[in-house]
Amino acid sequence: MNGVHGVRVGVIGGGQLARMMIPAAIELGVDLRVLAEQGGMSAAIAADRVGDYTDASTVLDFAREVDVITFDHEHVPQDVLRALVDAGVRVHPGPDALRFAQDKLLMRERLSELGLPVPDWAKVETLGELDDFISAHGGAAVVKTPRGGYDGKGVRVVRSAAEVSEWFTTIVEDGRPGALLVEELVDFRRELAQLVARRPSGEVAAWPVVETLQVGGVCSEVIAPAPRSAGKLADVAADVAITIAERLGVTGVLAVELFETTDDRILVNELAMRPHNSGHWSIDGSTTGQFEQHLRAVLDLPLGGTGSYGEWSVMVNVLGGPAEGSLTDRYAEAMAGHPTVKVHNYGKAPRPGRKIGHVTVTGDELDTVVYEARAAAAFFQD
Ligand SMILES: Nc1ncnc2c1ncn2[C@@H]1O[C@H](COP(=O)(O)OP(=O)(O)O)[C@@H](O)[C@H]1O
Ligand SMILES: [Mg+2]
Repeated sequence: MNGVHGVRVGVIGGGQLARMMIPAAIELGVDLRVLAEQGGMSAAIAADRVGDYTDASTVLDFAREVDVITFDHEHVPQDVLRALVDAGVRVHPGPDALRFAQDKLLMRERLSELGLPVPDWAKVETLGELDDFISAHGGAAVVKTPRGGYDGKGVRVVRSAAEVSEWFTTIVEDGRPGALLVEELVDFRRELAQLVARRPSGEVAAWPVVETLQVGGVCSEVIAPAPRSAGKLADVAADVAITIAERLGVTGVLAVELFETTDDRILVNELAMRPHNSGHWSIDGSTTGQFEQHLRAVLDLPLGGTGSYGEWSVMVNVLGGPAEGSLTDRYAEAMAGHPTVKVHNYGKAPRPGRKIGHVTVTGDELDTVVYEARAAAAFFQD
């Protein structure tokens, strides 16, 4: 274990993704440090620093005490990332890769250049350009703010440019009105996600493609592997994600969100370069969970196997929490009623719509696994 024991990984951001790296770090003998945005966050247990991740000197001070820097989110500005690299800090994923997860317009441009399958899209700077795109695409389209969106914030289905006119005025880049991304409204049968991990020295490992269900733009449920994905679909999804990881130079975990269209095409929706909600099932359902794999990858250690323990794993998010009663009581009820369920609590205060935990069930019979996971998650919601 020499070489791993005592190696320090610094995570920027104190949310639940940083929190779930902690048990993996303990198992690997890695010393995990977190730079949290504020006190009392989900990863507070490992947060020895609270500070502003947009401030280069704060981030540099934090980085000096660790061997590798990685992330809980993709919001660290490029100039801060560049300052780290210039100071000789190992940053994974690095700024050249991360910019494609930070900016959906850059991502669309690059994936199109690489010939990867994406929805029809355009960069629009005026209401007129947006209306032209909408009328050329059957009268509806999806408009996205290129930066800073998550959980469906910054994504809107529109039938006229006027519906997002305020976005043109609020998005300002370098003192000038910024552009928006517009995409065809994809007629999808379902959404999928393909997760892979890549080491700086090149090794890549892929988990099976999963099916994800979004409700109101927020991930609600994940089935691993995606039903009816054996064979070609699984190969295409893995190929697309591995190509992206290699061509964009991604290090660590890469999540590729995909659409399976009603006419059987696979299109890339967006990218995340960090552990992802669609990979939480792997903590309990795979030989190597995504948080362990991310740490191995950013430390350039050999990657772990990605085989599954059962035929199926189903993960259901716990969103919001109970309107009445204590969360502790709800956990006790879920545990008592569903002993096969793995319960994960992020230590966050319940708030409507907020991701405060998840449950995972693994087994060989899909209907039973789905039922158990939904029933256990229901204990937390009213
Ligand atoms: N072009 C599109 N066509 C149809 N639905 C879309 C399109 N783009 C996004 N969506 C829906 O909106 C959700 C959120 O969009 P996404 O770009 O992934 O934003 P976020 O960064 O909030 O996850 C997607 O999971 C999907 O359900
Ligand atoms: Mg998304």
